[in-house]
Amino acid sequence: MFTDRMNAAAAATEAALDRLLTITPQSGEIDRPRRLVMAARYAALGPGKRIRPFLMIETAGMFGVVGEPVAVAAASLECVHAYSLVHDDLPAMDDDDLRRGRATVHKAFDEATAILVGDGLVTLAFDALAGLDAPPDVKVALIGGLARAAGFGGMVGGQALDLDPDDPAEAEAVRTMQAMKTGALIRYAVEAGAILAEASSEDRQRLVRFGEAIGAAFQIADDLIDATSSAETAGKRTAKDAEKGKRTLVALYGVEAARQRLFDGVAQAEAELAPFGERADTLRAIARFIANRDA
Ligand code: IPE
Ligand code: IPE
Ligand code: MG
Ligand code: MG
Ligand code: MG
Repeated sequence: MFTDRMNAAAAATEAALDRLLTITPQSGEIDRPRRLVMAARYAALGPGKRIRPFLMIETAGMFGVVGEPVAVAAASLECVHAYSLVHDDLPAMDDDDLRRGRATVHKAFDEATAILVGDGLVTLAFDALAGLDAPPDVKVALIGGLARAAGFGGMVGGQALDLDPDDPAEAEAVRTMQAMKTGALIRYAVEAGAILAEASSEDRQRLVRFGEAIGAAFQIADDLIDATSSAETAGKRTAKDAEKGKRTLVALYGVEAARQRLFDGVAQAEAELAPFGERADTLRAIARFIANRDA
């Protein structure tokens, strides 16, 4: 049941990505270089979990809102996520050659292409939202929310802190860095579902708190995977955070205590969903999936 829902959300997202990432130019464009678009398709349509789209689709679905605009908004978030991975793997950042079980974009293509794929994907995300078949205030909220989650005060800012040798190693600073680099897009995934559903501000605030809690849990799980899993299972190189001296809660507290914090975070996330009752069962299951995953 859970797997069926996850696969359905992934399929809807991938269909929307496929329609956005055409080699033929869209109206108002001049041309689309074939190799660049093939590299963008390689990045965005590669075998990822589509957890952010799943969260957005299930949050909107909890309010009975389903359909094409939700899939397109989910695909736009996946574009930003895929761009963040392509740039995260670049030699100037984490310098990784394996992603989703395959060569990273700068290895399969080249570095300049990887930079431009990221630039193109983030631009495409906002193009898709601008063209959404939804009320103007919904679109503006989605566009503004994604910009804030992805930008200097969100993912991009967090990536800068992750790489900054002068950023403090204390738990509080690590949590802030992780809330920015990873938490912001996950929080947005949930908030966007509430925006698409035109949920009450009370429901939206509660869902945002749920999104923040699972966003923090998500990066602890990612750091545990790096510390304890294999490249074969994870689809990306592991044991790299310690080698590179990355600041993580696993480095600070050790594997067991970090895992405890992960489960505490999931419990806190689930508590936020209490008022939604059974309607939120899939969101609860996603929170548990995030904690127990091994890839
Ligand atoms: C990996 O994200 C990068 C982080 C934010 C930790 P995911 O684990 O969601 O990657 P894919 O999309 O499934 O490959
Ligand atoms: C990445 O964190 C966060 C973003 C891509 C924004 P990591 O550097 O830990 O992600 P992985 O482990 O390479 O997927
Ligand atoms: Mg990184
Ligand atoms: Mg990385
Ligand atoms: Mg990692």
